[in-house]
Amino acid sequence: EKSGYQHFMLKEIFEQPKTVFDCLRGRLYADEGKIILSGIEQYLPEITQAERIIIIACGTSWHAGLAAEYFIEETCRIPVEVEYASEFRYRNPIVKKGDVIIAISQSGETADTLVAIEKAKEQGALILGIVNVVGSSIARISHAGAYTHAGPEIGVASTKAFTAQLAVLYLTAFKIAQHRQNISEEKYLMLCKELEAVPEKTAQILQLNEYIETIARKYKDAVSCLFLGRGYNFPIALEGALKLKEISYIHAEGYPAAEMKHGPIALVDEKLPVIFIATKDQYHEKVISNMQEIKARKGKIIAIATEGDTITPALADDVIFVPEADEIISPILNVIPLQLLAYHTGVAKDLDVDKPRNLAKSVTVE
Ligand code: M6R
Repeated sequence: EKSGYQHFMLKEIFEQPKTVFDCLRGRLYADEGKIILSGIEQYLPEITQAERIIIIACGTSWHAGLAAEYFIEETCRIPVEVEYASEFRYRNPIVKKGDVIIAISQSGETADTLVAIEKAKEQGALILGIVNVVGSSIARISHAGAYTHAGPEIGVASTKAFTAQLAVLYLTAFKIAQHRQNISEEKYLMLCKELEAVPEKTAQILQLNEYIETIARKYKDAVSCLFLGRGYNFPIALEGALKLKEISYIHAEGYPAAEMKHGPIALVDEKLPVIFIATKDQYHEKVISNMQEIKARKGKIIAIATEGDTITPALADDVIFVPEADEIISPILNVIPLQLLAYHTGVAKDLDVDKPRNLAKSVTVE
């Protein structure tokens, strides 16, 4: 069942070139600039005219939603709100006809997400489900949606379901953006090509597996870790921290890099590993100066950087180079080394990475 891998989690991480490919297959025709999402085609006029989009999810799926907020707003110019299902359902939320709700769930059975969308449906919103498990409760209650086609995910920590969620969210965003004529044809085609290249680039990043294992061993006894990123990659910092927490039981927090000086920088000393997502994007210079601020306080830095970039040993203790990608697409790639880092840290600590303590694969109680 584990096809020779030591754990399901590692198997599922390594499946990602294929699962993202499967998710895009028959949907993305990059050369022709065509995106087909048969599950939502019927509702396209409504979605395109949405006054706002509310994304509802929990955990890792919530992180996919937060990542989507950045690229939907940028490409579609529709306001997006991202809600924890457990908060949304209890606070008498304001939902109107004309709102589009996107529920994201691997299992399709998360109780809070299910009840939250039931409520929104009663209030007249259109519900789109982005779900992995076919025929699950959330898939059935949604008006329309798109499956992520990642196959069964056994490891309690979500990995391949997350990248498949992002893939579907990209397709949805680019499709709406094109319909609304919010982006130039040139940019649309560029993004389609960049998305098409994700499986290949993911495979390249997976070749760093052994190198990332050595980094994990080096930091496995850390008591606490910070994950920092900005813009499109801030949600990936949150996801990196969640993965590490779940799998290695190391306390970890994700922050927007610029928020450091508003509090968390007080934690920095020579024992604190800080993981920076520092790939080339519009924030690059700013992220580099955030790294200098950490180094000046003797923190240890692990950086995810773009191949070809020069990051000196004075700036980062360890650097993981990933292939160049447009900043909008970079989150789906940058999460891969963070998944591997969490995995190898858990294994180095001899923990049950497929079934971390206190966690269940799907949270069907509130
Ligand atoms: O099945 P869902 O996507 O609705 O599950 C949501 C969360 O319970 C899930 O993502 C959880 O946070 C994972 N353990 C993350 O690895």
